[in-house]
Formats: sequence, C-alpha cells, structure tokens
Amino acid sequence: MSFHRGRRMRQTPAMRALCRQTPPLSADSLIMPYFVVESEDPAFRKEIASMPGQYQLGLKALREQVAKAVGNGLCATLVFGIPAKKDAQASGAWAEDGIVQQAVRMLKTEFPDLVVITDVCLCEYMDHGHCGILRANGVVDNDATLPLLVKTAVSQARAGADIVAPSDMMDGRIAAIRSGLDAEGMVQVPIMSYAVKYASAYYGPFREAAESAPSCGDRKAYQMDPGNGREAVIEARADIAEGADMLIVKPAGPYGDIIRLVRENFDVPLAAYQVSGEYSLIRAAGLNNWINEQAVMVESLQGLQRAGADMLITYFTETILEKGLAV
Ligand code: PBG
Ligand code: ZN
Repeated sequence: MSFHRGRRMRQTPAMRALCRQTPPLSADSLIMPYFVVESEDPAFRKEIASMPGQYQLGLKALREQVAKAVGNGLCATLVFGIPAKKDAQASGAWAEDGIVQQAVRMLKTEFPDLVVITDVCLCEYMDHGHCGILRANGVVDNDATLPLLVKTAVSQARAGADIVAPSDMMDGRIAAIRSGLDAEGMVQVPIMSYAVKYASAYYGPFREAAESAPSCGDRKAYQMDPGNGREAVIEARADIAEGADMLIVKPAGPYGDIIRLVRENFDVPLAAYQVSGEYSLIRAAGLNNWINEQAVMVESLQGLQRAGADMLITYFTETILEKGLAV
C-alpha cells in the first residue's frame, strides 16, 4: 500500500530547515516604528500602557534606543511624531522644525545607513484627531487636505527622509505628493503608499501611543471597509498609477488574503504592517504566559511572508534582532 508520507521530511530540524519554503526572517526586511515626542526634556521616555515594551521617546532617548537597535542590526525605521501643540491646520506636521523633521535630521546624521521612512498623516497634529481638514458637518475635506499632505511629505524629504509613507487615505494624495516632491527636485525620494488601509479596531493602542484618536466620529469615511477584498486591487492600482513605488497592506495578520491578492496582482515591493493591536494581543498573552511569545511572534511574521509580503513593519523588530531571531 502506498500513501503520502509527509513526515519523511519533518524528522530533524536540519531536514525541516532544508525543505522550508519560507526563508528565515531577515534584518534587511524588518521595519521598526518609533514614536518621537516634541518634549522640553530630550531624555523623555514613557511606556505606552496599551503596548508594553513600546515607548514615546524624546530626541535623545530616540537616539539612544536606535543606537542600540542599529548595533543589533536594525536597517529601517518608520517615524511617527507627537507634537507639543495641535491645531486645525496640523502645522506641526509640515513645520520645517517639526518633531519628525528634527528626528529625521538627527537619525540621518547619526546613522547615515539607516533607512528612515516617515509616516505622512495629519491626525497626530490636528486638534480633532482626524487625518485631514475637518468641516463643520463632520466631513473630512479630501481635496483641501491634499496641499497639507504635500507640504508634510516635502518637508520630511527635505529633512532627509529616505522614503515617505502616506497613511491618510485621501484620494489623489499619491499624485499630489509625487508632483510636489518632483517640483522641489526630489524626484529620487520613493513613495511607500499605505494603499490598502482598513478602518480597523486593531489601531486602538496606536492612538494612545500617538495621541491621535479622533475626538468625534471615526475614520470609516476615508479608511477602507474591512468587508471589502476586491477594493484592495482598485486602491493599489490607483496608487501605482499615481506614482507609488511600494505598497503597504494594513493591518496584516487578519488580512493575509489581501496581502496575497495584492502580491499576485502587482509587482512592486510590498510591506505588511503588523499594527499596534496585533502587537498588543500577542504581548498581553505572552506576559500572562498563556502563549510562547517568541514562537508566536515568529509564526505571526512567517504568515505574512507566506502571504507574499517582502517587508514587515512590526513593533517586534527590536526584540527579534536582540534575540537573534533574524539572520
Ligand atoms: C495614521 C496612522 C495610524 C496607524 C499608522 N498611521 C492610525 C490610524 O489610522 O488611526 C496605525 C498603526 C498601528 O496601529 O500600529 N493615520
Ligand atoms: Zn492619520
């Protein structure tokens, strides 16, 4: 009698490694997000309650933390800013000496080889916490928001950002940002578009981290509906046509089908963003010893690689590098 003997190839660690389809995690493709605070005290360092192990950092604290991570092999970062003051024009987002602009200058001076990616959005800088200009009727005005996004991306690129990553979900922002960068002579700065970004409850902890929760309503009128799959292809296609060089799918774990769909339809580099809520779920269970946290961490990222992601944006990056879980 003959039947399939899958176990032949599972007998030893070396045999399993030899036959493994997915390559080991690589430091080259991991991106660590940081929250940098505009604070009087550059050594400011405050743990985010809903994201144990993640911190809001002043400039000096950021420098120290990144120095350690770079020592462990960190290659790329995604920077978010928390301004000292918020207003209705998000002026902290596009100020030449805004906190992200300062952080980028510092990072590129101290760590010239580090790839510094900046999140382009206005919610952290708006007094109402929405990602664009808010009208009295509660609607975020798409077209009026575009010039502010362009100013934000241009000022970040001018500060030395290697890649700009718009996460606002306004229509037409990739075309606007591309022409804004080009007009300033920054044709070489790539755009990594959060092309496929769902209106997700998994962003909850991030909004504590970035102090960016909307004070009224929600983001469902601009971020995508979680029930939609095909729409991911439409969004990705539009952004590539407008000039996106790379794409992000976000959240990641619950959207493995979407990562695969985008991978199969487009050939540009693709990042999966394992968001704050995904991190916090694993972390909380790990802290309770309900799961083997390191194993779940690796398995969760392996799933994203299997789905087709090239790059992984994850708050576990520092830990993975520190524990030698990436090659
Ligand atoms: C800003 C932005 C958000 C995230 C990345 N960029 C929050 C949001 O859209 O509300 C979420 C990241 C995370 O949850 O880790 N628009
Ligand atoms: Zn936003």
